[in-house]
Amino acid sequence: MNQEVIIVRGNNTLAGDVAVSGAKNSALKLMAAAILGQGTTVLHNVPLISDIEIMSEVLERLGATVVREGHTLRIDTANVSSFETPYELVSKMRASISVLGPLIGRFGQAHVAMPGGCQIGARKIDMHLVGLEALGVEFEVDHGVLQATTPHGMHGTHVYLEFPSVGATENMLMAAVTAEGHTAIENAACEPEIEDLANMLNAMGAKVSGAGTSLIEIEGVPLSSLHPCEHTTVGDRIEAGTFLVGGALTGGPLTVRGIDPAFLRMAIMKLRAMGCDVETGDDWVRVSRTEPLSSVDIQTLPHPGFPTDLQAQFMLLAALADDVSVITENVFENRFMFAAELMRMGADVTLDDHHAIVRGVDQLEGAPVSSTDLRAGAALVLAGIVADGETQVHHLEHIDRGYEDYVGKLASLGADIRRVPAADAAR
Ligand code: UD1
Repeated sequence: MNQEVIIVRGNNTLAGDVAVSGAKNSALKLMAAAILGQGTTVLHNVPLISDIEIMSEVLERLGATVVREGHTLRIDTANVSSFETPYELVSKMRASISVLGPLIGRFGQAHVAMPGGCQIGARKIDMHLVGLEALGVEFEVDHGVLQATTPHGMHGTHVYLEFPSVGATENMLMAAVTAEGHTAIENAACEPEIEDLANMLNAMGAKVSGAGTSLIEIEGVPLSSLHPCEHTTVGDRIEAGTFLVGGALTGGPLTVRGIDPAFLRMAIMKLRAMGCDVETGDDWVRVSRTEPLSSVDIQTLPHPGFPTDLQAQFMLLAALADDVSVITENVFENRFMFAAELMRMGADVTLDDHHAIVRGVDQLEGAPVSSTDLRAGAALVLAGIVADGETQVHHLEHIDRGYEDYVGKLASLGADIRRVPAADAAR
């Protein structure tokens, strides 16, 4: 458990330029895909965050070697000989189950511990299994471990996913690249990170088309024709969106660099609807605001809808807007824990099932608060930057999972922020 806290002094402005890191949700899956390369894959623009360390451990347990040089990872999977991922790692990070598809693709079998419940809803894996079963994978659960086998090989198939699940789409994609024949995934997730994964798989010799749309097609190739590759991770749209919210809250101008603005279309639309000026370039987005924040209704949806991973940050904006906003969470159950912490800072939020009714207030007050999950933690720090007085944010292990040097980047934008041992903060 991380024994540090972030202390932030409020009534501050964030302005200037900040470079976003590579996307966590891409890099984790690219690392898993390296299993299919059977040699040394080189990944650039990998963020320095704890989830990446856990995925490195997952790969090392399988027999891979992972060497980090700054933001570059060299992953040698030539000697992967085990296909087991224990509960100890899956319980630390649910995304560990992304090794399921590539392990099946490479060995025709995998033993991966079933992920447990998660703080942001049930997060089942039924759709992962439906997709893989359609390819010919057979599953048994033995003492909490999912055992996958392919007694009759894997054959191309046509699957219509019940919901465009990111993880299910990725696992099926990574297994189908070595299935015999043609596979079509309809109602596939369209997230930019899936396109990034498909681009890497194609650089490894796979034949994937349509990634980034709701119809992904795969022509299976023999495992022997897949090879390692060198690939650069796309920028993190959620980190970018988080900093843009910081600029929108305090007026900016704040520019995020290293991000394709097309990844953020819906978030940019909502920022404009709230009264912000947003400019975009090839790989940057700039936000500024001179007018009061206007209230706005938001509903989270799979991409290209509004991302659930920016819901907490936009709830914070809505909490300081001029009227009532309704925020509807459609992707995850129980993703409003953030609201309770924000209310401790003076926000006026009423929860009704998967709706949050947010009545704007003039000012938030600094308070000790706890990160309840990754995005909530990042949003609470931003709340502290505009609140009156001092805010202490606890449980930084959540923020560390997904934000590289969050404190350093915010300080470079002008925040009065520091990270100290919890014992010092208590004095
Ligand atoms: C990924 C992202 C996460 C993001 C989410 C939605 C990673 C590591 N995480 O999570 O940051 O918030 O996409 O954009 O990439 N579901 C089922 N059965 C399944 C699979 C999913 O019921 O088999 C449900 C989940 O419980 C959830 C919803 O579908 O309610 C969305 O899940 P999914 O799109 O799979 O998200 P993740 O891949 O877990």
